[in-house]
Amino acid sequence: MERGKYYITTPIYYVNDLPHIGHIYTTVVADVIARYKRNRGFDVRFLTGTDEHGQNVERAAIRQGIAPKELADRVVGRYHDLWKVLGITHDDFIRTTDARHRAGVEAIIRRIQAAGDIYLDRHSGWYCSSCEAFYTEKELGEAKLCPTHERPAEWHEEENLFFRLAAYQDRRLAFYHEHPDFIRPASRYNEVVRFVESGLRDLSISRVTLKWGIPFPGHAGHVVYVWLDALANYVSALGYGSSETALYERYWPADLHLVGKDILRFHCVYWPAFLMSAGLPLPRTVYGHGWWLRDEKKMSKSVGNVVRPDPLIARFGPDALRYFLLREMNFGQDSNFSDEAFLLRYNGDLANGLGNAASRVLAMSRRYFAGRVAGERCTDNDLRGTAEAVVARYLAAMDELEFQCALEAVWELLAAVDLYVNEKAPWSIAKAEGADSPKLRRVLYNCLESLRLAAVMVEPVMPVIARRLLAQLGSDAATGEAALRWGGLEPGAPLGDEGALFPRADVDAYFAEVSVETKDNAHTQPVGATAQPAPAPAPATPAAPVAVPAAAVPAVPIVPAASPAQAEQVTIDDFARIKLVVGTVKLAERVPKSNKLVRMEVDLGEPELRQIVAGIGKQYTPEQLVGKQIVVVSNLKPATLMGVESRGMVLAATLPDGAPVLLATERELPNGAGIK
Ligand code: MSP
Repeated sequence: MERGKYYITTPIYYVNDLPHIGHIYTTVVADVIARYKRNRGFDVRFLTGTDEHGQNVERAAIRQGIAPKELADRVVGRYHDLWKVLGITHDDFIRTTDARHRAGVEAIIRRIQAAGDIYLDRHSGWYCSSCEAFYTEKELGEAKLCPTHERPAEWHEEENLFFRLAAYQDRRLAFYHEHPDFIRPASRYNEVVRFVESGLRDLSISRVTLKWGIPFPGHAGHVVYVWLDALANYVSALGYGSSETALYERYWPADLHLVGKDILRFHCVYWPAFLMSAGLPLPRTVYGHGWWLRDEKKMSKSVGNVVRPDPLIARFGPDALRYFLLREMNFGQDSNFSDEAFLLRYNGDLANGLGNAASRVLAMSRRYFAGRVAGERCTDNDLRGTAEAVVARYLAAMDELEFQCALEAVWELLAAVDLYVNEKAPWSIAKAEGADSPKLRRVLYNCLESLRLAAVMVEPVMPVIARRLLAQLGSDAATGEAALRWGGLEPGAPLGDEGALFPRADVDAYFAEVSVETKDNAHTQPVGATAQPAPAPAPATPAAPVAVPAAAVPAVPIVPAASPAQAEQVTIDDFARIKLVVGTVKLAERVPKSNKLVRMEVDLGEPELRQIVAGIGKQYTPEQLVGKQIVVVSNLKPATLMGVESRGMVLAATLPDGAPVLLATERELPNGAGIK
């Protein structure tokens, strides 16, 4: 059933930074909504892209000694790779350096000019170049710090073109009043209304000190203010300003602009005022979501606390990260990112929850029904009642963008399947009545059908896993509206492969691998530098682990190393930076509460023994280690593993089953002997 069009957008991302968890969040959420709406029969248009002009980008390019466009091209490549790995289903990717975009910006400006809303004036004020926005002294406080970036604002003085924003104050307020759904959630609505009520000042919409931007039509020497430039992407991508306006006519106005709360003002005040002035329809809703924090601060490059998505995707697969982002954050509010929380969700909700429920029911179906869907539909049973109530709650929650509630509902169904299996005890039925028992067929059919519904419901969030589960259940992977009705599984259909959906993560090994070093490296890599490893391709088995950067891994690589062709190449100088030395283990003991980690004190020929923690406790007892001569990376940045500081890393080879084997020298050497 065609339900009409649905146009959803993400902000376009600055190319002075590589994508971190905060950036991908908006796009993943938009993708979940786009997939859900498509499944519900909407004609969806999903837009994302990059914001490539402005002072930030110009400065970042100068710092790297390259042209801004070259920087943009490099970073855009990273976004394309990442969106592919994450399964983002955008229909279009706009770059503000595209010719089609420039045409759209010029067209809007011409209409604003024709409305008499642009004038030239001298202007001075405090400017935050990270936000690309002026602030009042009151907003900055005594220290003149930007409220978002907590960095000093700069004093700017120049002749600019101005937009008559103040003239739109009353019209803006009347509009908010008449369209309470324009700004969501409600808390953000109040924030914006208060801001507008406190008085709007005209907005400077050109820059003369900057060269990297779109020339302002009719005003040589001025470039278009980066926010006016950027906001216009939502219409320029639809062909506004060109002769091809079919997409614009079909999809504009946008149904949902999804943005972080830091850019709400631009989307809820400036953008609608520009559109009003240009006589264009206004978007239906702007949703301002919260921030991902790290250590209680907004994750951002300027603070230096970002988490990059690549290692998480490489280890756990894209769907696990998508699930975590949607399930962990209360949509609209801030949320703190931690590895602990990630692993808890991964092992708890995915490996134990969804994964176990599926493997348990599938294993019984294989055993009792020769790998086929149990041959009896059952229309009246407890599980069906629960499933139907869950589907209704799920749909209502998804329509309201309450992803947490929607997922909670699905997990209630999974818990109900577990309980049902325990209560009905299919193994006892089989024993008492044999595998031919109609009761056994009905019980297992009900479980499989509930799992099918769960798979259809999680599909927008975990598309790869959902399709795999549907295939395992012998379903045709249908995800449309009808797929949410009870009874879709065909009795007798062959079941698919047997593999686990989410292999359980070894928490100890994970923390042993992910040293503080990994994160530090991620912070300091230059933007768009070619040395940055490309994101790992989506693993064939979504949760299949992938090797992590070797220099950051203590001696428990639980997986085979990347093949030479995949591995990043280093120069001899890179290698020379790593100090490898011979040492003797003087003391070894297990780290409490860990079944893998061992704390060692190693003689490296230095005045004091070195404390090193390694994940080798399953293969080596402390007694075997004491007295052994080993090879150590001695200049590795210290890392804390399960609360114990490790100052170095022992080297080990890895067997195919993941077991480490310590490296040793051909004969005994003085401690501290260097290796090259
Ligand atoms: N280029 C502008 C947007 C122009 S839209 C017409 C911009 N770019 S940005 O790269 O700085 O940010 C893009 C999006 O990422 C924003 O929605 C921002 O809120 C979001 N995030 C950046 N850091 C974030 C977190 N730590 N947490 C959640 N989202 C955050 O602003």
